[in-house]
Amino acid sequence: MADSDIKKGLAGVVADETAISKVNPETNSLLYRGYPVQELAATQPFEAVAHLLWHGELPTPEQLADLRATERANRALAPEVKEAIDRLPLDSHPMDEVRTAVSVIGAIETAGSGNVLDAVGTPEQNLDRSLKLFAALPAIVSYGQRRRRGLEPIEPRDDLDYAANFLWLTFGEDPEPVVVDAFNRSMILYAEHSFNASTFTARVITSTLSDLYSAVVGAIGALKGPLHGGANEAVMHIFDEIGSADQVVPWLDRALAEKRKIMGFGHRVYKRGDSRVPTMKAALDSLVEHYDRPDVAELYETLESEFVSRKGIYPNLDYPSGPAYNLIGYDTLTFTPLFIAARITGWTAHIAEQQSSNALIRPLSAYNGPDERHIEEYEPDTAAIEVLERPEEAAS
Ligand code: COA
Repeated sequence: MADSDIKKGLAGVVADETAISKVNPETNSLLYRGYPVQELAATQPFEAVAHLLWHGELPTPEQLADLRATERANRALAPEVKEAIDRLPLDSHPMDEVRTAVSVIGAIETAGSGNVLDAVGTPEQNLDRSLKLFAALPAIVSYGQRRRRGLEPIEPRDDLDYAANFLWLTFGEDPEPVVVDAFNRSMILYAEHSFNASTFTARVITSTLSDLYSAVVGAIGALKGPLHGGANEAVMHIFDEIGSADQVVPWLDRALAEKRKIMGFGHRVYKRGDSRVPTMKAALDSLVEHYDRPDVAELYETLESEFVSRKGIYPNLDYPSGPAYNLIGYDTLTFTPLFIAARITGWTAHIAEQQSSNALIRPLSAYNGPDERHIEEYEPDTAAIEVLERPEEAAS
């Protein structure tokens, strides 16, 4: 096989079809089921976008009310999940906490299914599992942050929609509308992005006929890495390191001399800017004004213009979302778990799509190890070889 046949990182490989979202780097656009993500972020509650991703259409008022009723009924932190989280060291990474929590839920929900084939579930069961995981994640993510601050979990509020209840669960205060709006937009922007690494991981696991929870646990593992979801956390570390806008130039000089990757910039698909950034930057601007933190916008804009002018590499969604979550009051360590709470919608939509038209995902590799060699003292088992050569006789 020629080196040119190897698509390292599967770059440029079209692995399957999907009807869930379309990323178009030429027009710098992202469509969920045909709708531009900017339009969805400006007009829809996150619950409606979840419905769109799962069912292909925005919900009618009745469908939205049904989805919300189920979501509200499944918001509470289950005692066995809280217990599992409480057993983890306080300094466990919150991504590991959420991964463990989903694993516990999966083991409970699929208990008694008897064999691996039954654990896979029907499409209806998996839709129900998707909605319940979507409903459960805000309490899990919020409790992670509260636990690290020595605080108990908070009971969910039935009078609040998804985004407002999420903020309530974390901070225990009535959230301001401007904050709810920025947070809701971030959830919608993070919800789905075609065959990114974590979604593809979920599809690979699903393709083996494994269950939805296993696929989500694997996806969380993929999302944790700083080349993927972990970048929003890494952006905040960079902001903390730089400190203020006047330190951007010397910091960037050093970072580039050390050949560091600047987190929050660059994308495998978008090369001329990430379509989600302007919407998230507008949400960040509204938070900057609300919290009266012009210093954050100044650092953001200075680093962006310096880096873009030097490298021609543009920010991705993690760049504005990191400082936005920081202003809202989330710990840096909680940023990537917030991404999980949003992307659970896209992952589970892809899991359903993979299940509906499955082919085991199993690529080839070009071997470049040592030529065939042998263990000197090994003596071939001639009897076994004979059996292998005469399978019909061996079976009779
Ligand atoms: N900082 C500095 N240099 C960067 C860069 C960044 N954020 N992103 C890309 N580059 C450079 C690479 O060093 C490489 O330079 P070289 O050709 O001189 O070696 C070139 O641009 C191509 O980058 P590469 O990593 O091979 O491209 P990719 O398509 O595999 O990368 C990312 C995509 C996302 C992995 C990459 O841009 C990155 O690591 N970004 C930072 C992490 C991040 O923000 N991830 C979130 C993605 S949504």
